[in-house]
Amino acid sequence: ADVISLPAKNGNVSFPHKKHQELLKDCKKCHEKGPGKIEGFGKDFAHKTCKGCHEEGKKGPTKCGECHKK
Ligand code: HEM
Ligand code: HEM
Ligand code: HEM
Repeated sequence: ADVISLPAKNGNVSFPHKKHQELLKDCKKCHEKGPGKIEGFGKDFAHKTCKGCHEEGKKGPTKCGECHKK
């Protein structure tokens, strides 16, 4: 899917996967062990890897409500 819906009880996160593939090019930024399901994916990964990159690059959502939408 071009956009992957990541379920969270405080509001699902709509993740534009294809956009990130094109933008980052390097799959390993998220898929350490190769493409497919990410082992242990969840809150901690998301807040570290996703939010972390957005903060560092000053691009992309960093506030709760920008990712979590009810
Ligand atoms: C998971 C809260 C910011 C993306 C979660 C969960 C909570 C939470 C409580 C676990 C939900 C569950 O277990 O059902 C918050 C709060 C934030 C915040 C309070 C602000 C301080 C963000 C931001 C992003 C993000 C900025 C995007 C860059 C995600 C994702 C998940 C998640 C992708 C995992 C969903 C899954 O397991 O598939 N967050 N979040 N969150 N959060 Fe956040
Ligand atoms: C899921 C491939 C880059 C984050 C997937 C899946 C595949 C895949 C095959 C599982 C099936 C699907 O729903 O599509 C790739 C390839 C990449 C790439 C080939 C490089 C061209 C990225 C990047 C990120 C990312 C850069 C993060 C910014 C995710 C997430 C999932 C996923 C969060 C869902 C994981 C889960 O449910 O456990 N990817 N991906 N991917 N990808 Fe990627
Ligand atoms: C933008 C989610 C990981 C870099 C975004 C947007 C979302 C998002 C919802 C807004 C897209 C839009 O406005 O169309 C996530 C989630 C991640 C993740 C849930 C983890 C699974 C990453 C990582 C990086 C990154 C690891 C960098 C290494 C960016 C950048 C943008 C962005 C640069 C801005 C794109 C633009 O404005 O054109 N992300 N992201 N993201 N993300 Fe992520």
